[in-house]
Amino acid sequence: MIHNSDRVVVRGLKDVAAAETRISYVDYSGALYYLGYNIDDLVGRVIYAEVAYLLIHKRLPNQQELDSFQNALVSAMKLPEPIIESIMRTPKHCHPMDILRTEVSHLGEYDPNGTDFSDAANMRRATLLIAQVPVIVATIHGSRFNQIVPEPKAELGFAQNFLYMFKGTDPDEKETAVLHRYMTLHIDHGFNASTFAARVTASTNSDMYSAVTSAIGALKGPLHGGASEKVMEMLDDINLEEEVEEYIHGLLADQKKIMGFGHRIYKSQDPRTKHLRGMVEDLCHRDRTLKLYNKCIKIEEIVYARKKIYPNVDFYAAVTMDALGVPKEYFTPFFAASRIAGWVAHIIEQYEDAILLRPESKYVGQFNRSFVPIENR
Ligand code: CMC
Repeated sequence: MIHNSDRVVVRGLKDVAAAETRISYVDYSGALYYLGYNIDDLVGRVIYAEVAYLLIHKRLPNQQELDSFQNALVSAMKLPEPIIESIMRTPKHCHPMDILRTEVSHLGEYDPNGTDFSDAANMRRATLLIAQVPVIVATIHGSRFNQIVPEPKAELGFAQNFLYMFKGTDPDEKETAVLHRYMTLHIDHGFNASTFAARVTASTNSDMYSAVTSAIGALKGPLHGGASEKVMEMLDDINLEEEVEEYIHGLLADQKKIMGFGHRIYKSQDPRTKHLRGMVEDLCHRDRTLKLYNKCIKIEEIVYARKKIYPNVDFYAAVTMDALGVPKEYFTPFFAASRIAGWVAHIIEQYEDAILLRPESKYVGQFNRSFVPIENR
């Protein structure tokens, strides 16, 4: 046992490896691997369900396995009635992330085998959550217009059904391709804060719904998944491209952080950025996207020149989502609807590791204070 005064505090757990993982590797020099596959070899060549399968089964599926996994996901895209009713009753001012957090927790009440913690039960739950988190997101969106989301269509794939249920129209080929890339790029990222939160909860042998609820709470924060909504607020705040320079210099002069920039691990470009930037470039036939893209390029140049930091995944994700017609308060929910596969894969890995995640702290408070009874205080 180390004495309190000898303990070394690693502030923010920077560079601390809290466990071993085989799921993804974030290489500080600017690369990202899922189960050993470089994302550059996957993006544009796989669909989201294929990568979700890879994460939870630890290998890529063949066509038959992928078809049956997609069928299982699409069949599970139906929420218990009380969850739908609860979402419909939510006050309209609530942020979708707050509702998502509550309803994932609520979903735990409707697990028919809630006390079964076998591997098979956890795999079934993982598939269910991958399918149902997107449906909760779509249902929250529909509830704002007092609309019940449509049933999934058998002829559409899983990710397409998500966008169909969210928007109410069949996604075209381009939208589908963008969605698969976006969701693939957001599916996992090492021991990020939300994944770590999920693993801490799972490490107590708590259930998967509780662990995912912890993750959603962590993802919501603007230093993590909440950043893309803030990026859009910033882009909306800058009226014209010509105002970018003054606006960004103003934020930096006030010691404010530029949302969508910087990263704990990457010391060079975030490997996901080039894919997202490329997608946005591709969508620039839309007048609004072109204007946003031009602002983004300018911001990227200015921030690099001033701070030598690069955009992270959340920066171009904002414009990508906007081009897909997703309102900004749903950017983080879309992130969650993609990251859910990573979360459940990590929760299962944590169950397998079977160790309580419980760090120490260094106590810097007082000792031996003399107690004063309440009547004398
Ligand atoms: N704007 C301006 N300066 C920044 C930024 C930024 N976005 N990010 C980092 N810096 C500076 C920071 O001020 C500090 O400078 P100095 O050493 O002079 O004090 C230095 O870079 C190191 O920053 P840090 O905050 O100590 O680094 P960290 O590893 O603790 O934080 C971060 C990483 C992602 C929280 C941070 O870069 C940040 O707050 N970024 C803005 C929010 C954001 O975009 N979050 C999304 C993160 S990636 C996707 C995800 O996980 O969801």
